[in-house]
Amino acid sequence: MTFINHLRTFLSTNRKIFLQEEEKKMIRGVIFDLDGVLVSTDELHYQAWKRLANELGIMDFGRKDNERQRGVSRMASLEIVLEKGTKKYTDEEKRALAEKKNDYYKKSLQSLSPEDVLPGAKEALEMLRERGVLTAVGSASKNAPEILERIELMPLLDKISCGLDITRSKPDPEVFLVAAEKLGLAPEDCLVVEDSAAGIQAARNGGMKTLAVGPLSGQLGGDFEARNLSSVENWDEIL
Ligand code: G6P
Ligand code: MG
Repeated sequence: MTFINHLRTFLSTNRKIFLQEEEKKMIRGVIFDLDGVLVSTDELHYQAWKRLANELGIMDFGRKDNERQRGVSRMASLEIVLEKGTKKYTDEEKRALAEKKNDYYKKSLQSLSPEDVLPGAKEALEMLRERGVLTAVGSASKNAPEILERIELMPLLDKISCGLDITRSKPDPEVFLVAAEKLGLAPEDCLVVEDSAAGIQAARNGGMKTLAVGPLSGQLGGDFEARNLSSVENWDEIL
């Protein structure tokens, strides 16, 4: 075998390792979804939607329906509730219903504290800062700034991109592209951490790598997956 052939065999056998090395160098920023990734507000969203649903006479709204609301905008989440009932609402009535749910939700945020930060989230942010990797939040929520203040994670985040910055919701990549831009990074240099199908799709649509976490992590088709941020086995492999 000629030297060239040897080289060719060597390169193709080790292609995966070379590609991983290349990918490794590429992650310069990590963009975290907020609800259900950094903080347990996903449960508070669920309780608020359930309360509204029950008031509307929709008694069978449950966790399965709520799974579809993960990562989805407030108005689109309302549609997921209303499709379980038979009554039709005008746009104005729908806006009032969404506001009502938000009032319930905001009331429950009043008792939010650093104890509600999800396992491993703070440690992951600290580890990334130590490694010189930039961090941001990319969340559809208009309540993101208030939540981040209450759970005291603001000092560990370089930038925030949230529902107040965007007009298109996930799976549109806008919220993550805005986050990358605020960090001064190209989308392909960023990893997105998500707990929702819409969010994983949004990140992929934006050309970013994905780490799926949360109760649905095994079903979301992320590039990497972990039950939560404390059970990520090997950050070196991801970064
Ligand atoms: C996140 C949550 C959704 C929520 C959306 C809007 O994506 O996962 O459940 O509907 O934000 O949140 P907001 O706090 O503005 O109603
Ligand atoms: Mg989420």
